[in-house]
Amino acid sequence: MSRRFADIAFTPNVRAQQERHGSRSQYARMQAAGGAPDRLGPDETDFLEHADSFYLATVSETGWPYVQHRGGPKGFVTVLSPERIAFADFRGNLQYVSAGNVVANDRVALIVVDYVHRNRLKLFGHLHFVDADQADAELLQRVSPSDYSAKVERVAIIDVAAFDWNCPQHITQRYSRAQMEVMLDSLRAQVADLEAKLAEARGRNPGAG
Ligand SMILES: Cc1cc2nc3c(=O)[nH]c(=O)nc-3n(C[C@H](O)[C@H](O)[C@H](O)COP(=O)(O)O)c2cc1C
Repeated sequence: MSRRFADIAFTPNVRAQQERHGSRSQYARMQAAGGAPDRLGPDETDFLEHADSFYLATVSETGWPYVQHRGGPKGFVTVLSPERIAFADFRGNLQYVSAGNVVANDRVALIVVDYVHRNRLKLFGHLHFVDADQADAELLQRVSPSDYSAKVERVAIIDVAAFDWNCPQHITQRYSRAQMEVMLDSLRAQVADLEAKLAEARGRNPGAG
């Protein structure tokens, strides 16, 4: 965990809870006020650019947290620089809760989970949206997945403040349909091969069960 992440997450009330439960001294070593924004390295970049979904938390101007799913084809998240990521925000149910929330408070939290490898990355950042018709054409093209029918309504740009890798505990391994298809293809080939061998054996010995 970075100093910056601890500085954001460990508010006075959080620190009091850590004190109460005996973990404060351990975490205090990590924490110092301030700290430069975290920079995404090769591991974070690779992880984010292979994600097909994540959960995005915003805060309303009435103080309520709001979590919404964001997804797209693998690669829909683009790392623009070590401190900035972007993704295409597709036309949805027209509620615009996340879009409205960041007008008053641009602070967001993301959790990105790789269920196959049981990894998860948490990020804090500042989010702003740029409507697709106002976005820089090159940026819009860069974040828009090819061969994906959903309409890109706006580009979401997040300036990363801090991130932290989570442990794999309690992540149930899950595979997407596309990942299952790859595994099933090899099983299907084996079944076809065995069926052909069985048919051949039956042909040689018609009386066998
Ligand atoms: C036709 C349609 C219906 C949707 N209905 C819902 C819904 O009932 N509940 C929900 O959480 N998301 C729903 N979604 C997904 C959201 O619209 C989508 O996650 C969107 O990005 C949310 O934006 P917001 O977080 O700014 O409100 C729907 C999407 C589409 C295209």
